[in-house]
Amino acid sequence: MAHVIIGVTGGVAAYKSGEIVRLFVKAGDDVTPLLTKGAERFIGTRTLEALARRPAPDDLYPHLADADLLLIAPLSANTLAKLATGIADNVLTQLALAFPGPIVAAPAMNTRMWEHAATQHNVELLVGRGVRLVGPAVGELAEGEVGAGRMSEPSEIVDVCRSVLGRSVDDEWRGRSVLVTAGGTREALDSVRYFGNRSSGRMGYAVAAEAARRGATVTVIAANVSLPPPPGVEVVEVASAAELAEETFARERADLIVMAAAVADYRPSSPGQQKKKKDDAAWTVTLERTEDVLMELGRRRRPGQVLVGFAADEGEPGLAAAREKRQRKNVNLIAFNDVSRNDVGFDVDENELVLIGPEGETHVRKRSKEDCAVAILDCVAPLLAPS
Ligand SMILES: Cc1cc2nc3c(=O)[nH]c(=O)nc-3n(C[C@H](O)[C@H](O)[C@H](O)COP(=O)(O)O)c2cc1C
Repeated sequence: MAHVIIGVTGGVAAYKSGEIVRLFVKAGDDVTPLLTKGAERFIGTRTLEALARRPAPDDLYPHLADADLLLIAPLSANTLAKLATGIADNVLTQLALAFPGPIVAAPAMNTRMWEHAATQHNVELLVGRGVRLVGPAVGELAEGEVGAGRMSEPSEIVDVCRSVLGRSVDDEWRGRSVLVTAGGTREALDSVRYFGNRSSGRMGYAVAAEAARRGATVTVIAANVSLPPPPGVEVVEVASAAELAEETFARERADLIVMAAAVADYRPSSPGQQKKKKDDAAWTVTLERTEDVLMELGRRRRPGQVLVGFAADEGEPGLAAAREKRQRKNVNLIAFNDVSRNDVGFDVDENELVLIGPEGETHVRKRSKEDCAVAILDCVAPLLAPS
C-alpha cells in the first residue's frame, strides 16, 4: 500500500481526478486529495474526499510529509509555471518544493497554451529536475479544438505512478555507484573555434536521473550540457574528449558506467593558441585520433562491473557495426540509435534504441528519453553483481 497525494489544479480535466482517486483506493492505496483554489472552481474538495473514503486530516502538514508520491493531475499551465520557477504560494506548490519523493504530473490545457514557448521551457525545466510527466495526449479538447493538451487517461496516469512507486526505492540499486557521461565534447581549433557535435546530454541526464531515483549514487561527467542538473546527482563539467577521459578514468571503479556522451573521435592536431585571423586562403586542418575511452574502459573492466556504450550509427550496417563493437570493446550492453533519422536521437526529446546485450537484443520503440533510460536500466539490472 502506498500513500499518494493527488494535487488537483484548475482545469476542465479536474473532473477526471475523481476517477484517479477511485483507481488508487480500489487498489488499496491511501489517498490525500489536495486542491488549489483554481481547482475548487471545477470540482469540490468534498467529492474527492468522499472518493478517497477519508475526511480531510485536521492538520494537513504532517500528513503530507509521509507520502510516497505526489501526483498532480491535472497540472494547469499556471501551476506548471510555478513549479518550474519555485513559486510556493499555496499548499500544493509549497509541498512540491519541500517534497523529497517522486513527483508525477499530468498536464492538461489548451493546445496553444501547451505549445507556447514559455510552457515548453517550463516543461524542460521540470523534466530536467526529474519530475515525471504523463502526456498530454492529442485529442479533442473541451473547447472543441483538436490538438495536444488533453489530459492522459486516468488508468494510464495511475499505471505510470505505479511504476514510479515500484522503482522509487529499489534495493537492487541502493548504494550502487553509477557513472554516466553525457553531452558532446568540443575540440579546440583555436582559442575561440571548436569542432563539436549535436548531442544535448538529454539521454545521459535521463539515465543519471533514473539511476538516482532507484537509489544509486550517481556522478555525471557532463560535456557542454546546458540542461538543469538531474536531482541528487553530482555533475562534473568537462569540455574536450581529453578532459572527459581524465575525469572518467578517475572514477573508473564505479559499479556501472554508462557512456552516453558523444565523444569526439578526432581533434585538431595543433590547435591555435589565439584566434586565427581571417584571410583568403583555405584553412586546412589536420585531425588526429582521440583516445577511445569506451575501449579503454572495456580493457580495464573488473569482474562484476557493468559497462554500457552507445552507438550512434546509420541503418542496418550501423546496427551490425554496433553488434561487433560490443564484442570488440568488451562492453556488456550497447544502445544503438539510428542517427540517419531526424525524429529520434540527437537533440530531440525522443529516442528509439536497440539494446544489444549478452542474452540478445531488445528493441525499445520510439519513446521519451526518460522512458528509454528506464528500459536501459531494466536491461542492466540483471547484469549487476549481487550486492
Ligand atoms: C472554464 C475554464 C477552463 C480552464 N481550463 C484550463 C485548463 O484546462 N488548463 C489550464 O492550464 N488552465 C485552465 N484554465 C485557467 C486556470 O483555471 C487558471 O490559470 C487558474 O489560475 C489555475 O490556477 P491553479 O493552477 O492554481 O489551479 C481554465 C479557466 C477557465 C475559466
